[in-house]
Amino acid sequence: MEAKTARILDGKALAQKIQSELSDRVRSLQTQIGRPPGLAVLMVGDNPASAAYVRNKERACAKVGIASFGQHYPANASQAELELAIHALNEDDRVDGILVQLPLPEHLDATSLLYQIAPDKDADGLHPVNLGHLVRGDRGLRSCTPAGVMRLLQAYQIGLKGKNAVVLGRSILVGKPMALMLLEADCTVTVAHSRSQNLESITSQADILIAAVGRTEMITANMVKPGAVVIDVGINRVVNPDGTSRLAGDVDFDAVKNVAEFITPVPGGVGPMTVAMLLENTISSYCLKQVEATRKY
Ligand code: GUN
Repeated sequence: MEAKTARILDGKALAQKIQSELSDRVRSLQTQIGRPPGLAVLMVGDNPASAAYVRNKERACAKVGIASFGQHYPANASQAELELAIHALNEDDRVDGILVQLPLPEHLDATSLLYQIAPDKDADGLHPVNLGHLVRGDRGLRSCTPAGVMRLLQAYQIGLKGKNAVVLGRSILVGKPMALMLLEADCTVTVAHSRSQNLESITSQADILIAAVGRTEMITANMVKPGAVVIDVGINRVVNPDGTSRLAGDVDFDAVKNVAEFITPVPGGVGPMTVAMLLENTISSYCLKQVEATRKY
């Protein structure tokens, strides 16, 4: 009998579909609102991975008709200079979304900068007001990567109610908001991390396993329950023996695809969904602002 392999959760295709729908929406809204939506990406320094992410985000903005107000600062930019830039963008009516690309150089306080972003322009959903809305289960701008994972699960009609979900990683960017979104979808959620003991006994209970730890291919086949849904949030650059490099996730894809029922590839899984959710957040701030402007008159 031929071995069964997991179905691929194609984030790239779904993100393209979402972007094409957003592009149609922008076209029709723009005639009512009189300007395009705008997103400002602030990048500090020259981290090559961050530069690639920022390029991707700006390219995606151009495709759907969002104007980019990107600002690139040298690695020695000061906290005060960045705060001023954020305050100016908060006041700029052409800008609906602001994001600070992470990680920042060590001399900067990222949390304090994120707090300066107006919550209604917080396209990354990382401001405490938006994180607070998520904790309560209220409407608000949601963090893009976990929102993208939820959208992918929904698109493939993967049932979540009552399922055991294990989130590996507890970052504010992914692990914590991911756990809350799965809880909101009625999963029984466990958060495991680098200090967790007996990781394999935890992960092998997971119907839904989310790997967001940034450790290349650490999830091996023996750690995965047969029939599980495996979502790989990791994007790690691996240098091959011949000096070339490739992208790899936190999951050993080739081995785990023989155990799981669904699996995301890297690249082409969660990454493009993060970008699609960023565009969606920007456009929903754009619409909301319009609704509020009409209410005033
Ligand atoms: N760095 C890696 N991923 C992200 C993201 O989704 N948003 C921001 N701001 N920085 C990141």
